[in-house]
Amino acid sequence: MKFFVDTADTADIRDLAATGLLDGVTTNPTLIHKSGRQFLEVVEEICGIVDGPVSAEVVALDHETMMKEAAILRKIADNVCIKVPLTIDGLKTCKALTGEGVMVNVTLCFSANQALLAAKAGATFISPFVGRHDDNSFDGIKLIEDIRLIYDNYQFDTEILAASLRHPIHVLECAKIGADVITAPPAVIRMLSKHVLTDKGLEAFAADWAKTGQTIL
Ligand code: G3P
Repeated sequence: MKFFVDTADTADIRDLAATGLLDGVTTNPTLIHKSGRQFLEVVEEICGIVDGPVSAEVVALDHETMMKEAAILRKIADNVCIKVPLTIDGLKTCKALTGEGVMVNVTLCFSANQALLAAKAGATFISPFVGRHDDNSFDGIKLIEDIRLIYDNYQFDTEILAASLRHPIHVLECAKIGADVITAPPAVIRMLSKHVLTDKGLEAFAADWAKTGQTIL
């Protein structure tokens, strides 16, 4: 399973990239706003930190303007992945860009039928929003299961990029189902390394080591 981090905070991206865990980065207009930085500049910096796909989202709603925005974004670096919304115009843009060999992430997916359309449009990634699905009393994890089943039924190459993950259990469930990629905020990725017994064990080892009166260095 690939790990993407869902942020435009380059300090967090650098820190996580150093662990070797990061396979890519996803951004969206909200995360760019949160960074307080210029969109093109921050995407360029992120593309220099990770080798994998860096999702940069178009903001236009019509196909023609989406293509113009994509033309600017794809010039930033070879690992830019153009993010388009799951609308008919977004799907047209997906079809056109993937036809030109550009990676496309189709975002704001909330149903398995929408995911089916994205796969038929040749999407590189489909981003079902698990947490926002749960927020609205739907079952976000069931959505991932349904998409996995449909994609496997027809051997679609589109990768399931489980997005809007809010906690480690979301990551665990996505891994069990076989999501190809998860994207999560830095805090959620860091939480995956945590266990109360790891902390307790470290405390006990530190205390016993101190009693030996030894040093390694
Ligand atoms: O980037 C898309 C997605 O991961 C957003 O997550 O938590 O804002 O629903 P969230």
